[in-house]
Amino acid sequence: MRMVDVITKKRDGNKLTKEEIDFFVKGFSNGSIPDYQVSSLLMAIYFVGMDMEETINLTRSMIETGVVLDLDEIKGYKVDKHSTGGVGDKTSLVVGPLVASLGVVFPKMSGRGLGFTGGTIDKLESIPGFNVLLDKKAIFRELKEIGMCIVSQSEDLVKADKLIYSLRDVTGTVPSIPLIASSIMSKKIASGADLISLDVKVGSGAFMKDLDNAIKLSKCMIEIGKGFNKKVHVIISNMDSPLGCAIGNNLEVIEAINTLKGNGPKDFEKLCLEFSKRIIYDAKITNDLDEAYKLCYDNLHNGKAFNKFKEFVKAQGGNIKYIDNPDLFDKAKNIIEIKSNKKGYINKIIANKIGISSMKLGAGREKKEDIIDFSAGIILNKKPEDFVNIGDVIATIYTNKDNFDDVIKDILDSFIISDKNIKEELIIKFMD
Ligand code: URA
Repeated sequence: MRMVDVITKKRDGNKLTKEEIDFFVKGFSNGSIPDYQVSSLLMAIYFVGMDMEETINLTRSMIETGVVLDLDEIKGYKVDKHSTGGVGDKTSLVVGPLVASLGVVFPKMSGRGLGFTGGTIDKLESIPGFNVLLDKKAIFRELKEIGMCIVSQSEDLVKADKLIYSLRDVTGTVPSIPLIASSIMSKKIASGADLISLDVKVGSGAFMKDLDNAIKLSKCMIEIGKGFNKKVHVIISNMDSPLGCAIGNNLEVIEAINTLKGNGPKDFEKLCLEFSKRIIYDAKITNDLDEAYKLCYDNLHNGKAFNKFKEFVKAQGGNIKYIDNPDLFDKAKNIIEIKSNKKGYINKIIANKIGISSMKLGAGREKKEDIIDFSAGIILNKKPEDFVNIGDVIATIYTNKDNFDDVIKDILDSFIISDKNIKEELIIKFMD
């Protein structure tokens, strides 16, 4: 087989066979096909697309380039949750302990943040001592004893994805539904859970800017799941404005702690309960959705989910004193309030602008190698639908940098304020 024939076949609008897909994925992973040819094929896929059979074959070939975790020896229903990425999205930090407190096993493999979206692994590492690099033995022990773990994705899981994703990043071929779906699903299937619970974000602070594409991506991932006998459910949720009030690593951990004590921001608690309810229901802890909601609500407010979070942090080496007393977390040297220059209802807080501002304050990475400042970020003192007067504090920035005037201007610009109160829908659609 010649790579040039595979490229021209796709370029001319044709369907690739399983063998042709396997040829380029394995060939690229073992170094026998150069990146300029794979770049060209990725661009052809970007324009021509792939049907479901091709997408499932692509997912399978990618999985076969790495290890697959077998979780069979762990008893119970195993759930892995994944978000396509957003601003202020710390949902897994709450959903994990909440569903684990109700008997579901939560083995989550996660990534680091890049650009304007944060990553669960970075957030957890802002807890002093927390270890995200566990070996298989430690992961299994934690799952058996505590019922949850959140670890950094193993280096040998889906090797092809790392290579292909890096190439997509620099060739303008990230926003392709079959490529995104196979990239996400290959990693989730290789992680071995029974249920893959997906949060597909839509809006300014998300990959998917419009609902039609978010629905297409969701359908595609559900279909891939079927091809591998894996249950997949999706909640499409709004990412026009950030989720919750905290953006930035230790600020988000503190917000998760408050939420686990029943004192979280309303929108964030709502999304956590929606995911937990669906997980509890699919895990057959109860066969009634209202009862599932009640079980989750109760454990979020009676301390059981919080206690599970503490067990989890302790098991992964995190210093529990910080969880009991979040005032101990490092604070940035500059903490500056931003005051509104307009009067009216907040209609929207443009999520990607806030994400980029938080990154500029030190909370995120522009390039993979950048080092994160765990104490940097933004607290939104006001949220969409709130009424503000000129001079009211709408946000607070946390930074160790000395130059932040441009960021303050960007944050002010990201608050869309008018005399009409416009409602934002948080949970847009459930699909399975
Ligand atoms: N997240 C992934 O893991 N892969 C993509 O292609 C896009 C988002």
